[in-house]
Amino acid sequence: MRNDIVEIKFEDMSRELRSMIVYESNGAMDVETPQTLFDEILRTSPVVRWEMGVGFFKMEDIVAVARHRNIVSCDPNTGEAMGMGSAEPLIPLHIDGDIHKHYRKLLDPLFTPPKMKLLEPTIRATADQFIDGFIGAGQAEMYSAFCTPLPSTVFMQIFGLPLEDLDFLIEKKNRILKNEGTSFEEREAIGRVEGLEMRAHLRKRLQERLSTGLRHDDLLDTFIHFELDGHQLNEDEIINIMHLFTIAGLDTVTSSLSCILAWFAKHPEERRRMIDHPELLPAAVEELMRYESPVPSGGHRTVTDDCEINGVPLRKGEIVYLCWASANVDPAAFESPHTVDLTREQNRHIAFASGLHRCLGSHLARIEIVAAIDQLHRRVSDYWVTPGAEVDYEFAGVRAANHLPLSFTAR
Ligand code: HEM
Repeated sequence: MRNDIVEIKFEDMSRELRSMIVYESNGAMDVETPQTLFDEILRTSPVVRWEMGVGFFKMEDIVAVARHRNIVSCDPNTGEAMGMGSAEPLIPLHIDGDIHKHYRKLLDPLFTPPKMKLLEPTIRATADQFIDGFIGAGQAEMYSAFCTPLPSTVFMQIFGLPLEDLDFLIEKKNRILKNEGTSFEEREAIGRVEGLEMRAHLRKRLQERLSTGLRHDDLLDTFIHFELDGHQLNEDEIINIMHLFTIAGLDTVTSSLSCILAWFAKHPEERRRMIDHPELLPAAVEELMRYESPVPSGGHRTVTDDCEINGVPLRKGEIVYLCWASANVDPAAFESPHTVDLTREQNRHIAFASGLHRCLGSHLARIEIVAAIDQLHRRVSDYWVTPGAEVDYEFAGVRAANHLPLSFTAR
């Protein structure tokens, strides 16, 4: 038995800890620099046991728990999914065991690094179009002018959904992830209603596509014609996958790009280095994904059978919380974890999760973020936070610099 497990009653937890472990939207977290909080948790309570379950913060523990077969992402008793506007489990995020493997076998080949590399010219051209829209003004609010429309447009193209749907889908996604509900249950109920409306729309698009019978070079076409071991996806499975992809595709890259761009805007020396040496950018983006960890944690997991992982006993039915962001600043895993070293060589971060449910879209996300920033750096000789203005951050499961006023000098 380990001696670093801290037992704590839910009512005695700090508001910061609650905002993470049970996703309480109480505004307690310092969203701009949460690394200080993670550092404190790692030192004082790296494993937290409360009435409902166990929270893990250290890299070594998280990596072991995230790949353990007794830890599943969908509660087998309720069969319910949480936080994504869907009562039914979403494929593949809330699916476990062999069926999950089967779906990943279908989906993984669509997002390989070579396939994603082919998208780079389109991503760069799309980035240029958005830059054209604000470059003349010398300043822009980059969250809405660049970080939101660029990844969303790219994703709609890859997906095969018409661009005219974008505003509607972004609104639905936002209402699912962050709505006015004051309790978890209320937010969840509103999110599910929004999720149903989003699904109805996605179903309409799928049926339109099916009715034409025409082939396309996009994900929707692939889903329709998938076949693996005699299994073809039915309409409900396709809608289910579209539901998750819409949320993942329209939120995470936007948030990550905004955090990374905000970091560069506030660090002139490192920014200049990247503008002058674009070949350093891919490693720098990895380092900033590690440090910023825009998706700080995974959805709750459930323990299916009593077990012990790294000396921590887990009981059947308990909730498990995993914090990727604290693991990414764990001194046992990284040398000087609070130093942002843009040329860090050993960088096995888990900003895209770890284990069985590691991110399917990580290669797409990486290419989008690097191409977006590089394309911006080709068009401006420098940029900075607009004097007198401030960068604002929000945390709604995902961290974002959701107000990013930047000024720049065009080349
Ligand atoms: C920088 C952008 C992104 C970040 C930081 C990110 C992060 C993550 C994380 C942390 C998870 C694990 C969630 C959990 O365990 O509860 C995950 C899973 C997933 N992500 Fe991403 N993601 C990003 C972009 C994308 C994109 C663009 C797609 C679109 C295809 C995508 C699709 C998925 C899917 C399908 C899963 C579930 C995988 C499974 O359960 O097997 N992600 N992502």
